[in-house]
Amino acid sequence: MGAQLSIPLRLPTPQNADMRGKTVLVRTDLNVPMEGGRITDQSRIMRLLPTLTMLSEQGARVVLLSHFGRPEGKFDPSLSLAPLVDALSAALKREVRFGVDCIGNAARNAVNALREGEIILLENLRFHLQEESGDEAFARELASLGEIYVNDAFSCSHRAHASITGIPRFLPSFAGMLLLEEVTALSNVFSTAMRPLAAVVGGSKVSTKLALLENLVSKVDVLVIGGAMANTFLHAQGIAIGRSLYEPKMARTAKGILSAAEKAKCHILLPADVVVAETLCPHDPCAVCTLNDIPHGGMIADVGPVTLMHYLQTLSTCRMVVWNGPVGAFEVSPFDSGTVHLARMLASLTRAGALQTIAGGGDTLAAIAHAGLSQAFTYLSTAGGAFLEWLEGKELPGITALLSAPARTLASA
Ligand code: 3PG
Repeated sequence: MGAQLSIPLRLPTPQNADMRGKTVLVRTDLNVPMEGGRITDQSRIMRLLPTLTMLSEQGARVVLLSHFGRPEGKFDPSLSLAPLVDALSAALKREVRFGVDCIGNAARNAVNALREGEIILLENLRFHLQEESGDEAFARELASLGEIYVNDAFSCSHRAHASITGIPRFLPSFAGMLLLEEVTALSNVFSTAMRPLAAVVGGSKVSTKLALLENLVSKVDVLVIGGAMANTFLHAQGIAIGRSLYEPKMARTAKGILSAAEKAKCHILLPADVVVAETLCPHDPCAVCTLNDIPHGGMIADVGPVTLMHYLQTLSTCRMVVWNGPVGAFEVSPFDSGTVHLARMLASLTRAGALQTIAGGGDTLAAIAHAGLSQAFTYLSTAGGAFLEWLEGKELPGITALLSAPARTLASA
């Protein structure tokens, strides 16, 4: 991660560029959570406002590009970006237009009709297969709609897609304010000034977070493992976990992670007691068990009070915590209790100035919102997959594309 620390300083930003009258293509991430046509979390929209307001107020003609869902190259009305227009207009307090396609005459005519300061959202990029394949001709066609490109979608920058890595080959390219904010915050995670550093990793599967765990054991001082993935570690240590969810094939891998952690002097914190239920249905009877008395027919649903006490003792000795993944089946009450208590603990240590807290990933942010603590963390990332890949130490193609875009000066923008 060392190399990533200097990125914010080197990323080109459009702040002082003269944008008046220029057509600026902004790659955004409007892949927002929706239920029954209603947006259930506006964070990704709200976090774009600084860049979009700045561009519009500077008199740019602003063209928003985004994907939504995974339509696999086919038009799918349920994955249209059209329902986002009202939410964007309301958030920006100015009318946002809509273009029914992101390429072709429909897109070109709609963009050409824009006046200075106006904003248009073009239809879902992924209605074209060439977006995800990173097709050069498609990227060139997108690029031909504008004069300047701004990537403000850190949360998509792990995708080598045409709108992320292709357009910067053809246009003067800049980092948007949200992307810059994300990179700056995440660069701090591995800064030596913030030791001891802890990571809390939860979620259901070791297999999906293997690269993350492997990277973290060599980078952090404390690694808290929770959620169903902790069950795989407990099983690997010979603990009888009843009917709990776990990955039998990952037992050897889990052991490998434990011994790598020992070598790296990374302290691993696994649950010491657990909440066990017969099913993960709400209001089913449940009980706190030590690791020695998990009933044969029981399922681990959450961490127990002794584990939470260990979390508090350990995390309060740290200076920074990065969190991804709930530590229990938080979608189901009362198994949200461990995750909510953890969120409260991190929030109160943050408020006391004892800890810097950075969290990312859809489930984690939903859990923090569920605990009513979204304002209480040092930084909440809008990214899921990109957040994980950054913490895995991977290079994000979208960031690399901005750094290696043809040299430009602000005047040439
Ligand atoms: C996300 O929601 O993490 C981004 O929008 C990326 O979406 P994807 O995983 O479908 O590429």
